[in-house]
Amino acid sequence: MPKVTIDGKVYEFEPGERLLQFCLDHGLEIPHFCYHPAMSIPANCRQCLVEVGMPEIDRATGKPRLDEEGQPIIRWFPKLQTSCSTQLADGMVVRTHRTSDKVQKAHEDNLELMLINHPLDCPICDQAGECPLQIQTFKYGPEGSRFEFLKVHKPKHVRLGPHVMLDAERCINCTRCVRFTDEISKSHQLTIVSRGDKNYPLTAPGEVFDDPYSMNVIDLCPVGALTDAHFRFKARVWEMSKTPSITVDCSKGTNCFYWVRDNLIMRITPRQNMQVNEYWMPDSARLNVEMFNENRPEGPQVRNSEGKLTLTTWEEAYRQAAEALSQVKGTQIAFLGSAYATVEDNYLLRQLALRLKARVPRYIPHVEPGTGDGWLVTDDKTPNAQGCERLGILPVEVEELRRGVREGRIKVLYILEDDPVAAGVFSPDDLRDVTVILHHYHSTNQTLAVADVALPAAMVVETIGTYVNEDGIAQRVRPAKAIQGWNRTLMMEMGKSRLDWHGTPFDRWYNEENMVNCRTGWEAIPAIAQRLGITMRYQGPRHIMREIAEREPAFRGATYEAMGLLGYKLEDVGQPV
Ligand code: SF4
Ligand code: FES
Repeated sequence: MPKVTIDGKVYEFEPGERLLQFCLDHGLEIPHFCYHPAMSIPANCRQCLVEVGMPEIDRATGKPRLDEEGQPIIRWFPKLQTSCSTQLADGMVVRTHRTSDKVQKAHEDNLELMLINHPLDCPICDQAGECPLQIQTFKYGPEGSRFEFLKVHKPKHVRLGPHVMLDAERCINCTRCVRFTDEISKSHQLTIVSRGDKNYPLTAPGEVFDDPYSMNVIDLCPVGALTDAHFRFKARVWEMSKTPSITVDCSKGTNCFYWVRDNLIMRITPRQNMQVNEYWMPDSARLNVEMFNENRPEGPQVRNSEGKLTLTTWEEAYRQAAEALSQVKGTQIAFLGSAYATVEDNYLLRQLALRLKARVPRYIPHVEPGTGDGWLVTDDKTPNAQGCERLGILPVEVEELRRGVREGRIKVLYILEDDPVAAGVFSPDDLRDVTVILHHYHSTNQTLAVADVALPAAMVVETIGTYVNEDGIAQRVRPAKAIQGWNRTLMMEMGKSRLDWHGTPFDRWYNEENMVNCRTGWEAIPAIAQRLGITMRYQGPRHIMREIAEREPAFRGATYEAMGLLGYKLEDVGQPV
């Protein structure tokens, strides 16, 4: 195999590899801005410079010439090279800033040049704390500025499109944003305008940057020139916790981070997973922030003698749910599973149905044909239809279920995390004579109008569990924010910000107001089962999933350990079970 020597250490490489990516893959940091592994390499920021040399070859023998100590004589390239664009060659010798004063000086000078016109407004910049320019200046840049003149002024707070703002003065012209629209999303909506130190990215006159993937340029921008129009000035990065998870607005299972401050979701950003979404995320998934914060229910409710839903305790809600289930035969109960809920919760619901001798639950599909884009947005608007079907929970046969309700054969309807009235499965009138037990996320759920027991349910950002995406990849989620009844300190999996780690409930900033009074399915279903004399003894969702991985052939091997952070590809079961 060919070899390269970097800072005195010899490495083997595959032909075709480039120096910067090779160094990054081997844990050798080299500062850079314009390079991105998914896009072309313009080598325009000049930050990744290194010294490169090749052994001198004796033309007569074709072998490297050796010095007095028997070492190959290295002929160094006269200028420093951009490591992002340098292809590795057998025998190449490289000196990075770790071993070369010349490279160190180049990094420092380049950063000084970039900062001549870059405003030093980190204290009010959204990118501060996660800004490659700020971080690299701190590590490799000059101590201070020698520039005493007026900086070049360019347009500020320009709204490029509905979701992206531009501060052209901060731009370092790396062209990552332009290349993204040219090479990845292919909308070609951005280009660099003007020349020299006046240039910056913009749309064509009259054009709006409305690419459905436009917000990816915010993550790509290595300075704070492109910011999120919705998140701007809302929170500093060091105040938030960051939890790895997935998005749930379609069946792609795009990997993401949920960012939380004070138990509110503040923003959603993509997380790299090469087998699911690579580095990207559609704007539609990123804009779902409010769904986790707004219209959340106040607590469990039961319908009183006057026919009104009233707040009650969890104990009373569980008791009434169990009572309703115990008063009818199993065949008179219809269970609806949910393609929004986790595999674990659907599994427990199926166990409950089987123990009560009811039919296996069904789920309501939410497919909107023609709305997918063949990339990261799918027609199926639920995250876990595959998980349901692999458990044998199939799409509901609407007509049959309606008939059962109308003819009085179904007396109790148990609904897990869905809204059959909004989905058009039933009208409120259909359910007038049926006892409805509903696990719901929002106080706007239309089925609440006919619910007899309403159990607020934890959303994906508040639970632990598994979702199976459309490609059969089982991915687990972790709680990003606390809910009432949970002790954040004891929840080892929960995302914690600096304040959460070091604060106590006695701190002035500690606030329980934003903790939703809801329960996860894996707490609520066993609690109801217990009141029916059915034991569901699990130590938590990890334990439930271990049982599923052992017992359900379609989930063979899918333990939390196997899923890790990037998911576990389930064996292909062909057609859904
Ligand atoms: S706006 Fe950001 S990503 Fe675009 S060219 Fe400027 S620095 Fe690069
Ligand atoms: S990263 Fe190499 S020149 Fe920009």
